[in-house]
Amino acid sequence: MKIAVVGTGYVGLVTGTCLAETGNQVTCVDINEKKVEMMKNGKVPIYEPGLELLFNRNINQGRLHFTSNLAEAIEEAKIIFMALPTPPGGDGAADLSYVLGAAKDIAKLMKEYKVIVTKSTVPVGTADKVTAIMKENTNQEFAVVSNPEFLREGVAVDDFMKPDRVVIGTTDERARKLLGELYGPYVRQGNPIVFMDERSSELTKYAANSFLATKISFMNEIANLCELVGADVDMVRRGIGSDDRIGKRFLFAGIGYGGSCFPKDVQALAKSSEENKYDFKILNAVMDVNEIQKKVLVEKVKKYFKGDIKGKRFAMWGLAFKPETDDIREAPALYIIDELLAAGAQISAFDPEAANNVKALVGDKITYAKDQYDALKDADALLIVTEWSLFRTPDFTQVEELLKNKVIFDGRNLYDLQKMIDCGFYYNSIGRKVIA
Ligand code: UDX
Repeated sequence: MKIAVVGTGYVGLVTGTCLAETGNQVTCVDINEKKVEMMKNGKVPIYEPGLELLFNRNINQGRLHFTSNLAEAIEEAKIIFMALPTPPGGDGAADLSYVLGAAKDIAKLMKEYKVIVTKSTVPVGTADKVTAIMKENTNQEFAVVSNPEFLREGVAVDDFMKPDRVVIGTTDERARKLLGELYGPYVRQGNPIVFMDERSSELTKYAANSFLATKISFMNEIANLCELVGADVDMVRRGIGSDDRIGKRFLFAGIGYGGSCFPKDVQALAKSSEENKYDFKILNAVMDVNEIQKKVLVEKVKKYFKGDIKGKRFAMWGLAFKPETDDIREAPALYIIDELLAAGAQISAFDPEAANNVKALVGDKITYAKDQYDALKDADALLIVTEWSLFRTPDFTQVEELLKNKVIFDGRNLYDLQKMIDCGFYYNSIGRKVIA
């Protein structure tokens, strides 16, 4: 099938590459000419495990193309995916100007029936808005489909190639058939393609992310309670997670959820509820809890040093909002850096992928270590912020030798408590006993 993907951000790039992988002819279009040139030369602009291999294979085999010319990209395409940004506007509601702008441009260029698929996370009712703007600009027949993505950064290629489910929101029969065919190869294992109307599909995406964010905030509150009553959140997690109805995943307490999706989507759903005069109480609590949770690690540090961390040096392991990505959008690390610097502390940080992105944002206000041990030199304590596998089994003898004090604040609960007792560290994690 001939496909166009408008927007080569994270979602567009993964979508385009993975659609080419099953034999489709895919043209990705982006207004950024420099980026298009770079991609034509086989360079992937983001870090995502497994993507580069598929990307180069499909370019070399002539199935994946790049252009900055929209007309050229959509000319022969039957299906056009829109993977454009929907950043939160000043009022928290998603800003649809990119999506509606592209829809208008596509409509003006169309010479035959086409299926326009919205991949971006958009508020309920957007398909209707896209349809309206297109109708004003073309006499051709078309269908507007909502097809939300559920890709997780770090495993996005796998998530696309073997999705738990594909949600397709359309009431147009032709579009339903075309998309069913397109996604067929990805659900061979038997996972469902769930067909529904556009509005339900748009809401499904927000409901999924908000539910997961709720699960995390709930566990973070359980963790805070654990600390007060002397229970261990890891035990409670195991205890409840083995109940199928609850499930084992997404029950890890930590320093708050971040990333490009959860904070934005929870906020947008709350906003859209408000606009519809519905007071979505749980969502407001989820956001409040997350704000508090981002502060937990710094508060533990300040308390340990009796409120005075001026001139103290901290080693930070991890900057990305989660492992296997270089993404720092809404990363708890940024909040922690701000707070520590504001209190007059120094930071030496190490992250396997995200250091350059942080450097572009905070510059030389912190130092960037060449490896995890280098970060520890002369530090008054170690803070663990992202749970990269690399940090899970460090050489504790080296950690002890390099740190000025044997003190670890762990925002990701990486270490066994007994191990910390045996190694003689002061160890303060989330929702578990403090080892002193
Ligand atoms: C998420 C959704 O999972 C995905 O389906 C959607 O399409 C986009 O948003 P992503 O932002 O890549 O994906 O990250 P995810 O792995 O879901 O983690 C989100 C945040 O929650 C991270 O900050 C992570 O550290 C945190 N988290 C996750 C926890 O604090 N505890 C957990 O148990 C799981």
